[in-house]
Amino acid sequence: MSTLTTLPLAPLLENLFRECARSTPENDPAVAQLPADELDRLMHSKTDYRELYGMLSDLPLEVSRETGRLLYMLARSCRARSIVEFGTSFGLSTLHLAAALRDNGGGALITTEFAPSKVARARANLETSGLMDLVEIREGDALQTLATDLPETIDLLLLDGAKALYPDILSLLESRLIPGALIVADNADYSPEYLTYVRTPANGYLSVPFAEDVELSLRLG
Ligand SMILES: C[S@@+](CC[C@H](N)C(=O)[O-])C[C@H]1O[C@@H](n2cnc3c(N)ncnc32)[C@H](O)[C@@H]1O
Repeated sequence: MSTLTTLPLAPLLENLFRECARSTPENDPAVAQLPADELDRLMHSKTDYRELYGMLSDLPLEVSRETGRLLYMLARSCRARSIVEFGTSFGLSTLHLAAALRDNGGGALITTEFAPSKVARARANLETSGLMDLVEIREGDALQTLATDLPETIDLLLLDGAKALYPDILSLLESRLIPGALIVADNADYSPEYLTYVRTPANGYLSVPFAEDVELSLRLG
């Protein structure tokens, strides 16, 4: 049995994924009125990401069901005990990762989010799931919240915040990644700089595009 597929998490995730399916960016009036080239510019911007995510602050923007399951499986298979996540939102990916920690025998997950209303939603979901004891939510911009007070080692990193910041966030955490650590970057296509970095073997990673929209990278020893 796994925490992911049993009470109370399984029905909670089912309800959350159903609820999220009704609040997509495509259905959102503020996003719908944004010209496509402006949306594309904001998605690639290292400076205007707050403007973008301010507009998206009511939307869950969650990982897909498949990516959620993949996160659980990867965290289980590498027996992760120390996980960092960039981009909490309502906490759907966090729930999968925390479930894996529980089934690995315990550990700690640091996740970070700058929208206070989303932090509250994630906290409530984690309380309902009974997994809050494994998770520290750092409220604020990840460039600050992940700059200090980090775990000695990191087994798995999920990048799912502002895409243009992926290289910056990786560089804050890189020295803590154990050899064999996994990095999952959702929608990394929006950060060509990140893809070039992790796909250059001299930088110490092996990396492949995985499933539809995930870049999966392995930290080499
Ligand atoms: C794609 S959503 C995360 C979805 C979440 N991982 C899930 O599966 O439920 C990205 C989130 O990152 C947050 N975010 C973006 N840039 C951030 C930053 N620099 N610091 C903290 N949070 C950030 C946004 O507010 C948004 O809620």
